Amino acid sequence: MGALVDAYNRNTTVKHLLSIEGLSAADIEHLLREAAHMKCARGRHSNLPLQGQIWALIFSKSSTRTRVSFEVGIRELGGQTIFLNATDIQLGRGEPICDTARVLGRMVHGTVFRTFAQADVEEFARYARIPTINALTDEEHPCQILADLFTIQEKQPGRWSEKVIAFIGDGACNVATSWIFAAGRLGFELRVAAPRPFQPGLAVLERAGGRIVCTEDPTAAARHADVLYTDVWVSMGKEAEAEERLRLLRGYQINDQLVALAKPSALVMHCLPAYRGKEIDADTFETHAGTIFDQAENRLHVQKAILAWVVA
Ligand code: CP
Ligand code: NVA
Repeated sequence: MGALVDAYNRNTTVKHLLSIEGLSAADIEHLLREAAHMKCARGRHSNLPLQGQIWALIFSKSSTRTRVSFEVGIRELGGQTIFLNATDIQLGRGEPICDTARVLGRMVHGTVFRTFAQADVEEFARYARIPTINALTDEEHPCQILADLFTIQEKQPGRWSEKVIAFIGDGACNVATSWIFAAGRLGFELRVAAPRPFQPGLAVLERAGGRIVCTEDPTAAARHADVLYTDVWVSMGKEAEAEERLRLLRGYQINDQLVALAKPSALVMHCLPAYRGKEIDADTFETHAGTIFDQAENRLHVQKAILAWVVA
């Protein structure tokens, strides 16, 4: 811990993973290469970059994949974890983020934080001065999209600039937004098919740049695409809008008819959890379950690459 306090006092530069927007194309390519090494070396890592470290996982929302992949990943890289349900710590009773961050920054070596506002993760990182990883906010899910990019590269090697990825559903959700920033960085064509109220925001599109096509027509988005991707229609925190969302998004299901429009080799992907009969048809899901669960497994390998990168 002595070294940690020294680092705090010297105000040294600390690396975080808060957003895809904060990464360069070179950073993304590095993380994808590193994830491939992590996948190959699983069970026999010669380098343990988190040896002697204790990481806090603070979660204000439910999680299966992100939580387990970080807990396993941190341990496999030599570290230990403390899982903190945000409602069990004083944060849940109103202790400010900036105070929680300054306390944890003096006790642990890194934090994985899942919460509501992106600004809260950014504030935490600023005050804690230890590597901080965004494990999902209302605005972004960068770790998910890095794992998705890795999965696409693994199954369909080739230039990003030649790929067409279609995101069908809630085009304003955290996962869609991280996809938009990824398209801006890597240069693939991203088509977002969503009903008008769930189209991506103009500010995000302007910040991202790149080749983003927004449409209300899922068939136009799917035609000759390399990847069809979806996410839940009712994200965590949006439960009060469930009825309205299910009504407006009804025509945006990934099903066999939509898949038939994409390239014959197209991947069908889902970040999970999946709601069959809503954003994805049950049979379509099972047909593509091999890809979808490889995608889920890849969360582990990619989280390890992220962890090694932020502590390097
Ligand atoms: N895809 C994803 O982040 O899953 P969890 O909510 O289970 O972590
Ligand atoms: N958009 C979803 C992603 C779940 C992993 C949500 O925020 O609930």
